[in-house]
Amino acid sequence: MRKIFASLAVASFVFAAGVGAAQADGPNPVKYRQGVFQAVAWNFGPLVGMVKGKMDFNADMVKANAENLVALGKMMPGGFMAKGADKGEKTSAKAAIWEDMDGFKAAYQKYVDAAANLAATGAESKESLGKAVAQLGASCKACHKDYKEN
Ligand code: HEC
Repeated sequence: MRKIFASLAVASFVFAAGVGAAQADGPNPVKYRQGVFQAVAWNFGPLVGMVKGKMDFNADMVKANAENLVALGKMMPGGFMAKGADKGEKTSAKAAIWEDMDGFKAAYQKYVDAAANLAATGAESKESLGKAVAQLGASCKACHKDYKEN
């Protein structure tokens, strides 16, 4: 009996490796990147709220959230580069990402630069926050326009 279970385990492992990580029960690249983007929106939302006057300007929160947005930027590529990242699962990611990886990387770089600028200048004043938030927001929109289904 034991032997049968052992060989079944080996067989399913080979199968999983063949189809790619996206099919496994464990961490999967689509859920991972969607989680990263949920965290991006979570951290970005209050900063937009401050710019729109829905929340008081709070320099400490700007600093903390901007640092999170920088860190989340570092986590983004993994969800697109992993094996099987372009198939399986319900996703809003367009095939254009893998067909035009250079363009996608350029769109990603704009996010990285804008998040770094937000972390460097956003907490100075409401005006500087406004400019940095507009720049970062433009990077979200530009990437979504070309690489995400609405
Ligand atoms: C380099 C490209 C890129 C940038 C920059 C980017 N996104 Fe996205 N975003 C995507 C893609 C692609 C998806 C679709 C992921 C999927 O469904 O597999 C997505 C999905 C999302 C989602 C939905 C997540 C879910 O639960 O399905 C939210 C919310 C989101 N992005 C917010 C943002 C915000 C806010 C910014 C900017 C601060 C941003 N994104 C910047 C490419 C980008």
